[in-house]
Amino acid sequence: MFKLALRNLTKTYGDVTAVNQVTLDIQEGEFVSLLGPSGCGKTTTLRMIAGFIAPTDGIIEMDGQVLSSPKAMMPPERRQMSMIFQSYAIWPNMTVAENVGFGLKLRKLPAEEIKRRTADILEVVHMGQLAGRYPAELSGGQQQRVALARSIVVKPSILLLDEPLSNLDANLREEMRFEIRRLHDEFRITTVYVTHDQGEAMVTSDRIAVMNAGRIEQVDDPYTLYNKPRTRFVAGFIGRTNFLEGRRERDAVVFDGFTLHTDAFAGPAGDGSGAVTLSVRPQSMKLHGNAPGNPDGRCVIQGKVVERAYLGEHWDYGIAPNGSGVQLRVTALPIEVHDVGAAVWVEFDPAQVAVIA
Ligand SMILES: Nc1ncnc2c1ncn2[C@@H]1O[C@H](COP(=O)(O)OP(=O)(O)O)[C@@H](O)[C@H]1O
Ligand SMILES: [Mg+2]
Repeated sequence: MFKLALRNLTKTYGDVTAVNQVTLDIQEGEFVSLLGPSGCGKTTTLRMIAGFIAPTDGIIEMDGQVLSSPKAMMPPERRQMSMIFQSYAIWPNMTVAENVGFGLKLRKLPAEEIKRRTADILEVVHMGQLAGRYPAELSGGQQQRVALARSIVVKPSILLLDEPLSNLDANLREEMRFEIRRLHDEFRITTVYVTHDQGEAMVTSDRIAVMNAGRIEQVDDPYTLYNKPRTRFVAGFIGRTNFLEGRRERDAVVFDGFTLHTDAFAGPAGDGSGAVTLSVRPQSMKLHGNAPGNPDGRCVIQGKVVERAYLGEHWDYGIAPNGSGVQLRVTALPIEVHDVGAAVWVEFDPAQVAVIA
């Protein structure tokens, strides 16, 4: 049985389909992100899970029990879920400890237990020293830690987070993603995390569901999602990539100006024309100043450098294969210097290539 199951979940507003036939199963203790651009339906999905919005179609189950369907809705307060928003909204007139203990007080727990559990969770989020402060006396990151502590302390059935870091500055955002994952490793609360930031999703999540225009396009662990994206949208949204459009011919794929001799890109040709699109990451390709000796099943394309930029951590090269209108983006280490106009050989392992549907 799944902790949380979304089955063909759909929400329409007039002619707008905000969420379109979303199906997703989440295990107990799993951390899953909904990742996608603004307007793709992430918040609407999360609010349906929380019970604030009724689905137009489809159902939501928790522990095998129906929470939401077009016919019946369990009210949000009975779902025992905690939700954190972008504007984390901790109460300004309460101290840190009062904010964190408030949910326990509502549940009428004994004062001693409230005190103990509040103190414990504040230690975990490194806010023990600041228990007596008011929100106005805290930085944005500290306020976010209070919001996290407040939602975890009540031991929710499911933790829902909607872009919780987007009001923080860049450095703090990066630190807090690791913090959120650390808290998850400690408490293992089943979590659904909404973000448009792929880095955030990759650091925090066991699995990521990439959404586009109301639909889930792919659900996978971060590694698989990055290395084997199945659609053009997913490949382009999760980091930079090169799309190569070619045509299958027996044991080769023919591109504009070059041919890759490999059967590694076998698979359904889609429309039967043999047309195939490959996604190759810029850092999956290696540049050589001379023809590589024994490529050992690896793909090699000869070309020249047409542009380059030095970005400190790496070079960003634009490579034109000889006789081709294609331009490849290739990243290389700072010590791998090739001048504009120089002949280069681009080498990559077919295993590093994703065939796009
Ligand atoms: N209450 C509403 N009325 C009409 N359209 C809405 C409403 N809520 C959301 N939408 C539309 O549904 C789509 C998905 O919105 P949302 O779930 O907020 O996206 P995200 O959180 O991914 O940015 C958008 O096109 C948005 O304009
Ligand atoms: Mg949103």
